[in-house]
Order: sequence, then structure tokens, then C-alpha cells
Amino acid sequence: MSTRLVLFGPPGVGKGTQAALLQQRLRLNPISSGDIFRKEIEAETDLGRMATRYIERGELVPNGVTIEMMAKRLRQDDVRQHGFVLDGFPRTVKQAEALDEILLKMDFGLTKVISIEVPDEVVLHRLAGRMGCTKCGEIYHREDKLPKREGLCDKCNGPLFVRADDQPDTIMERLRVFHETTEPVIDYYLKSGLLQRVNGTMGPEETYAQIVSDLIHVMSEVS
Ligand code: AP5
Ligand code: MG
Repeated sequence: MSTRLVLFGPPGVGKGTQAALLQQRLRLNPISSGDIFRKEIEAETDLGRMATRYIERGELVPNGVTIEMMAKRLRQDDVRQHGFVLDGFPRTVKQAEALDEILLKMDFGLTKVISIEVPDEVVLHRLAGRMGCTKCGEIYHREDKLPKREGLCDKCNGPLFVRADDQPDTIMERLRVFHETTEPVIDYYLKSGLLQRVNGTMGPEETYAQIVSDLIHVMSEVS
């Protein structure tokens, strides 16, 4: 049976880090709405040009185009066969409702929604120090997860970069948008009984252990 997870939480909580661990260790299929937007921006598509105006300001890209983009991605064959770990989608109640509709049409449901939770000051520290690999996407931190060679990825030697939206003002705006617009999505999933709350203040391994212990429990109930 394929696993269909949502990783939910504020900017910088570690969604991308956990999605990468779930991919490496459980072969789950990560789908990040932010990464798809960044690829569109890099390829200078119309969607990318439109999205960049919102992303640079730390605001959400409008629901219509975001839902359309994610629906297209979710209908691809790999999703049907292997499931997914959604990272960064849904981020509004409208997107959560749209996701349910998309999955219903595919005869699917969600396995679990994992809400990773930390105080705002932890987010600020994590985002202010984040670096990512331009080639493979591996995520680093200038204090907590240093690469072995400065500025270069341990895995693929690719150069590291700092995301344009990881500037202090933009980080504050992303956090504000999270509390105002995205946090209410938690209530949506609380009602469905799918929500698992995870304490994200510890290291990546401890966070991963919480996610997986509950996930294995759910999978054994289903099978
Ligand atoms: P997106 O790319 O989704 O960014 P985000 O949600 O702001 O989250 P981040 O990628 O910044 O953080 P993360 O949780 O993945 O943390 P990470 O693992 O990197 O979205 C970007 C923009 O695109 C949005 O602002 C919006 O404009 C647009 N967008 C995207 N989706 C959209 C949607 N659905 N609707 C509308 N607009 C949308 O970790 C961060 C740092 O912390 C790293 O340095 C890492 O090494 C470190 N770290 C991670 N975990 C730990 C840990 N447990 N302990 C210590 N350090 C840790
Ligand atoms: Mg991310």
C-alpha cells in the first residue's frame, strides 16, 4: 500500500529536512510546493514570474494557481504508484479542501497529517542560518549542520546558496502569514482525525523518530 503524508508546519520548522529523511530511509516520494515554484522561477516560466512576486515578499501564491499546479503534479504516475510526502501544501483551508477533492477523484485518502511544532524563535534561528545545495537540494545550517568543506555540498560537491526569502524581513512576514492563514488548517485536519502533532524543537533524528513511530503504528493498523 502506498503512503500519503502531509508534512505541516511553519517556515523553517524542518519540513524539507524530514521529507528528505523519509525519502532516504523509507523511499517515500517528497513533493514540495516551494521547490516546484522555485524550479518554475529558475526556468523563467509565466507561472514562475507570477509566483516570484509573492515569494519574494513572503506572501502565499494565490490559491487558484497553486491548486492547479499541485493537482497536475499529484496526477502523475509516480504518485499513483508510490504515494507522496507533501511538504508546504496545503497551506490554506481552501487548499486542504481541494486536496481532498483531488484525492477523492483518484480514489485515495491521506494516511496522516504530521504537524511539526516549534516556537517562533526556533524558526528564526533555523532560517537565518540555512544554506541549501544548488544541485541536489541537501539542506545545511551555518551553525547546526555545517558542510565538511565551506560552501560545498557533502553529497554532490554542488555550491551552497542562501534562499532569497531567508532575509529577516521576509522571514517575519512568512511567520505572520503562517499564523494568520495557514495555522487554521490544523483545525481542518483535527476534525478528520488524521492529525499527529510532533515536537520539532529537538534535532532532526529525534523529530524523525516521533514521525516514524506513529507512522509504523498506523501502517500496521491498516495492513
Ligand atoms: P516553502 O519552500 O514551502 O518554504 P516554507 O514553508 O517557508 O518552509 P521552508 O522550506 O523555509 O522550511 P522547512 O520547514 O522546509 O525547513 P528546512 O528543512 O529547510 O515555500 C516558500 C514560498 O513559496 C512560500 O513563502 C510561498 O510564497 C510559496 N508557497 C509554497 N507553497 C505554497 C502553497 N501551498 N500556497 C501558496 N504559496 C506557497 O529547515 C530549515 C533549517 O533548519 C535548515 O538549516 C535545517 O538544517 C535546520 N533544521 C531542520 N530541522 C532541524 C532540527 N530538528 N533541529 C535543528 N535544525 C533543524
Ligand atoms: Mg522547505
